Amino acid sequence: MVSFIVFGASGHLAHQKTFPALFNLYARNCVNRQSFYVVGYARSKLSEPDFQNSLKDFIKPEQEQAKLYDEFISRVSYFTGQYDQADSFKEFNKYLENLEKNTDQSKGLRVFYLALPPSAYVSVGNFIHDHVYLPDGRTRMIIEKPFGKDYDSSIKLKEDLHKKWSEDEIYRIDHYLAKDMIINLPTLRFANPHSLDALLNNHHVKSVNISMWEGGGCDGRVGYYDINGVVRDVLQNHMSQIFTVAAMDEPKSESPDDVRYEKVKVLKATSHASLKDSILGQYVSGNGKGGYKDLEGVSKESKATTYVATTLFVDNERWKGVPFVFDSGKSLERGRVEIKYYLKGKESGIFTDVNQDHYISFSVQPNQEVVLTAFANKPMSSERTCVNASLNLNFKEQFSEEMKNKRDAYEILFEDAIRGDPTKFVRDDEVEYAWRIFDEILDSPNEPLPYPAGSTGPKEAEQYLKSHLKLIQ
Ligand code: BG6
Repeated sequence: MVSFIVFGASGHLAHQKTFPALFNLYARNCVNRQSFYVVGYARSKLSEPDFQNSLKDFIKPEQEQAKLYDEFISRVSYFTGQYDQADSFKEFNKYLENLEKNTDQSKGLRVFYLALPPSAYVSVGNFIHDHVYLPDGRTRMIIEKPFGKDYDSSIKLKEDLHKKWSEDEIYRIDHYLAKDMIINLPTLRFANPHSLDALLNNHHVKSVNISMWEGGGCDGRVGYYDINGVVRDVLQNHMSQIFTVAAMDEPKSESPDDVRYEKVKVLKATSHASLKDSILGQYVSGNGKGGYKDLEGVSKESKATTYVATTLFVDNERWKGVPFVFDSGKSLERGRVEIKYYLKGKESGIFTDVNQDHYISFSVQPNQEVVLTAFANKPMSSERTCVNASLNLNFKEQFSEEMKNKRDAYEILFEDAIRGDPTKFVRDDEVEYAWRIFDEILDSPNEPLPYPAGSTGPKEAEQYLKSHLKLIQ
């Protein structure tokens, strides 16, 4: 028996992401359908049919899934309760016991997904633990970022949660860990130690660029962005996660803790970002698009940062001396997320005159592909031309069947949480070390550098990236 309980069930996130992912898990038979219960919990007084109906606009079953959809919906129930009253949780426990009564409860599992503001995590977590908890590792709580707003507050959150919950009961989501390329990166690296991974160290790599460009702006999120900015929004979490998977050494085994141990080792060996060596920017109107300050509710004095470029070094044998350069921004020319390892040029022998950059890149989105550029002579040319050609592994081409059935990150993560596999979730020490790295650049007192919406970022960033990445062109 698995009861999947969604707190904040009447909210937008739950409707948009959570319930569709649960339906897909059900439809793909990734859960035991006979003993899978989905329960929405929220304060709104809604009847069960009304709640079930409210999901209709968000879950989009294929035509042939109509029957499955009805079956799924009949397993979705709804409970009206408060978040700050023990009585609500006590009653909810009775409700769950009744729902689960025809199953073997001694083997049952309760998974709580908190689609709630982070400020509620500790108190709701405490109530769950006191009143709705199944012992012996049979209760799990899934939470979403932000896990604190800086290093100190993240430690406080961790300590408060750990008063009741053990680390292996807490599943912290970073949906980037469920993206195809990020899931694939350890395989691409460690299953290919004599080709791909053999290149990834300071003997061959001169610099690494981790980019997360977004085409969209901050529309509809100004309240959040004004307080948080790009460093809290994506650098401390999604980009740090990409970084650790890109830089880590091979884990001793594939166990969740061995994998996360290697990721934490990278973070511990990493330098701290400094304001002096970072570019922080904010988009202004350009290319027919409005600027950040043109958005409703933004003050003309706002210093919210929507662009960042910064550089870190990893002090270990593999990466000593190699700059890891991060750049990310909202309202940029286009959306793309990738890791690019720039390779060193030749120092002696022939071909030292080839003045072009070459690299191996792992593209996370919009396409999932690995590209290794290689110098080659143009065919049919009797002269030495030596141009940049590419060896390309494109997931869509090579795994065309599998790529037709793309799974949403939430679906993958919920399945893992139900199976009890926390590998793709963020452990407490990962959160903590990642905050420490970026503490200095979270709230800059400086005016952010302006850049036109739809461009490649502040003009200062162009030179910054070129010099920090040691680019030739
Ligand atoms: C979220 C950030 O966590 O990730 C957003 O809050 C960002 O600002 C989003 O746009 C990016 O995720 P994805 O999957 O669309 O690349």
